[in-house]
Amino acid sequence: MFVLASAAASSLLLAISVSAAPKSLVAPQGAEVLTVAVFGDYGWTGWIPAPDHFCLEVMADLKAAGITVPNELVNDCDPGDKAYINNATALQTDTANYIGQVCTMKNCSAIISVGDNFYDSGVDFTTGGILRFEEAWVNMYAQGVFRDMPWYQCLGNHDVVKGQAGVDFETKILPYYDDRWNFGTSGLPYWTYHLVGSNWTATFVVVDSDCFLSSYQKNTSVYYNEYTIGCHKNTSVQVDFLNQTFSNSKADWKFLQLHHPYMSSATNQTDLAPLIQIVEAHKGIVLNGHDHCLGHYYNNNTNFILSGAAGYPQGGDCNNGIPLGPFTKFLAANNNTGANGLVTMDISSTSVNVEYYVRDMLFINGDLYPVAHDLMPSYKFQITQKSI
Ligand SMILES: *[C@@H]1O[C@H](CO)[C@@H](O)[C@H](O)[C@H]1NC(C)=O
Ligand SMILES: *[C@@H]1O[C@H](CO)[C@@H](O)[C@H](O)[C@H]1NC(C)=O
Ligand SMILES: *[C@@H]1O[C@H](CO)[C@@H](O)[C@H](O)[C@H]1NC(C)=O
Ligand SMILES: *[C@@H]1O[C@H](CO)[C@@H](O)[C@H](O)[C@H]1NC(C)=O
Ligand SMILES: *[C@@H]1O[C@H](CO)[C@@H](O)[C@H](O)[C@H]1NC(C)=O
Ligand SMILES: *[C@@H]1O[C@H](CO)[C@@H](O)[C@H](O)[C@H]1NC(C)=O
Ligand SMILES: *[C@@H]1O[C@H](CO)[C@@H](O)[C@H](O)[C@H]1NC(C)=O
Ligand SMILES: *[C@@H]1O[C@H](CO)[C@@H](O)[C@H](O)[C@H]1NC(C)=O
Ligand SMILES: *[C@@H]1O[C@H](CO)[C@@H](O)[C@H](O)[C@H]1NC(C)=O
Repeated sequence: MFVLASAAASSLLLAISVSAAPKSLVAPQGAEVLTVAVFGDYGWTGWIPAPDHFCLEVMADLKAAGITVPNELVNDCDPGDKAYINNATALQTDTANYIGQVCTMKNCSAIISVGDNFYDSGVDFTTGGILRFEEAWVNMYAQGVFRDMPWYQCLGNHDVVKGQAGVDFETKILPYYDDRWNFGTSGLPYWTYHLVGSNWTATFVVVDSDCFLSSYQKNTSVYYNEYTIGCHKNTSVQVDFLNQTFSNSKADWKFLQLHHPYMSSATNQTDLAPLIQIVEAHKGIVLNGHDHCLGHYYNNNTNFILSGAAGYPQGGDCNNGIPLGPFTKFLAANNNTGANGLVTMDISSTSVNVEYYVRDMLFINGDLYPVAHDLMPSYKFQITQKSI
């Protein structure tokens, strides 16, 4: 009896394991106007930095002795990030509440992530990784409008520090863990999805921009690992994927969704040029993060929408609000801070209406970034030039 029951149970398990693909949530189809939220650079909560004694003393002794210190630990000693963690956790929480308010008001149907989902060194398939996932994401974005919201996911530099194990956890495992975490069904860090309205469609191509940066191929970089070495040799796979997907799509709007900026007030990642060339040829739109602020740039006949301000914002990433040139259309930053916030896009057959919601950063002793009515957009523009 017992043997039979367990045999039945194990054949049931086998049946599940051969047939079950993750059933990620997707945005509803058929809307005349669909609103999505775009943001990134948020996943701070629960990060425990390496202790000072290790970072300031032990690490140097180990290096002197010729002992290799894992990148993950070197990264978890980052002095800037160690200084930010308390504020960063509070700012992620306050901004999550703000995003919830804006998205309730605007009826967001999906979230489009531009990466840096887990500071400082990503997450992997360990108890620690699962606990971080719960703390920085599942429970952070659980209430109200977030409850049944699909998140179309993307990797950032912090997500690849653990190498292939970290990439696999986010792309292959987490879609089973929470049906809101959508990374497609290929299990790859580059993928595509379509939003379908009543009489319009939008094609999104997600790539892992970490693979393109030559600076990450220096053996002193914390991002130098077997995953980035492999995919850097293979960037043509992602370039071809973008080219083929955009070429095969008849969508009204075509978006490239990635972490790093080609256009920036801090560092233009010119290694991304092969991707941008394709976007320009299709009259597409670029969504990126990495710079911890909100901005709108226009260059190469292309709109670059920067939304990297859902965690710890940094004014320097937006040159403290001072445009470097006419390619800069908007920056949400001042001499004290970059501003927290998000971008929403109202997508329809005639336009993509892009709105920048910037949070009034009031705190107990003052206001780092005053915004008189922060449930109104601080800046907006409209895209009517269709993709080809
Ligand atoms: C919110 O958007 C969805 C998707 O377009 C739509 O089905 C729904 O009716 C909208 N809700 C409101 C209150 O506008
Ligand atoms: C943390 O926030 C406080 C204001 O709440 C500010 O005075 C302080 O400079 C911030 N520290 C860092 C490292 O950002
Ligand atoms: C790192 O690269 C430099 C040259 O780029 C080389 O001289 C050095 O031996 C390398 N170090 C390791 C540990 O591979
Ligand atoms: C390059 O991409 C191909 C196709 O996706 C894959 O089969 C191969 O393993 C990749 N090579 C490296 C070094 O990552
Ligand atoms: C994109 O693909 C087309 C064929 O579909 C090819 O002619 C073109 O060279 C490709 N462009 C790039 C930048 O790879
Ligand atoms: C990025 O490129 C633009 C346009 O070429 C240029 O004006 C700007 O100064 C560059 N940004 C940085 C940080 O160098
Ligand atoms: C974008 O425009 C700049 C000039 O502002 C040019 O140097 C660069 O090559 C262009 N990039 C692409 C991908 O065409
Ligand atoms: C920042 O400070 C500088 C020097 O005081 C000033 O010129 C600039 O306008 C300030 N920037 C902003 C965005 O307030
Ligand atoms: C799509 O449908 C809306 C609502 O019926 C209409 O206003 C709009 O003109 C249509 N767009 C096209 C391209 O037919």
